[in-house]
Amino acid sequence: MKNKIKKIIEKKNKSKIVSLTAYSKNIAQILDKYCDIVLVGDSMANVLYGMKNTHRVTLKNIAEHALSVKKGIKNSLLVADMPKGTYENKQIAKKNAKFLMKFSNCDAVKIESNKNNFKIINELVKSKIPVMGHIGYTPQFKKKFKIEGKTFKKAKFLLEEALKIQEAGAFSIVLECITSNTSKIITQNLKIPTIGIGSSAHCDGQILVTDDMLGLSGFYPKFVKKYANINRVIEKSVKKYSKDVKLKKFPSKKNYF
Ligand code: KIV
Repeated sequence: MKNKIKKIIEKKNKSKIVSLTAYSKNIAQILDKYCDIVLVGDSMANVLYGMKNTHRVTLKNIAEHALSVKKGIKNSLLVADMPKGTYENKQIAKKNAKFLMKFSNCDAVKIESNKNNFKIINELVKSKIPVMGHIGYTPQFKKKFKIEGKTFKKAKFLLEEALKIQEAGAFSIVLECITSNTSKIITQNLKIPTIGIGSSAHCDGQILVTDDMLGLSGFYPKFVKKYANINRVIEKSVKKYSKDVKLKKFPSKKNYF
């Protein structure tokens, strides 16, 4: 596991880090062939559970999905999100992160920054729990979506935040919806890799929510490139199945005993 983390860090300035989210084994085993990092994100709140934000996803939700994803992973680094309210202080964070790692056998946890939880990251790292940071638009702590790092002052603040997360011992940081210039400055000033979502090609790697890039979630902001239209494929298949059942074309002799 340590080796996997080392390999991710060593990719900085050499080759781009490829990451996507997964919530289940079937998707994970496809991603595992192409991704350096697979994230069991709390985006499952919106994508899977139809919630309006990520705030009510539980540690149990993440742990169960991470356990499923782990079954599809051989090579990628498996990171699981710590949900909102599960890392309020050092003791709670340590207890919950340990549970998540033990239950799912994931390799690392991700913690959103509230600009104040650097000591919590450090406590986890000291307990041998690898941590990925997350700055910029952090859905657990921000009420409204906003592009981050637009002014010099805000860029400076984000850089300081990223440096503190690095100093706390995180092995990488997600930059979410941070302007291109600010992402460039942060990436150039960190030793650990930055993984961008909506934060330009200056980042050391990229991450997207898989359901968004496959055209399954219905959520397609500017930073999402839609690589497929899986919704249409599913609809076509279900329509055909429905027709076949009604016309008694399915099941045919081939499909029963
Ligand atoms: O929950 C998630 O999927 C994430 C990514 C968007 C980085 O945090």
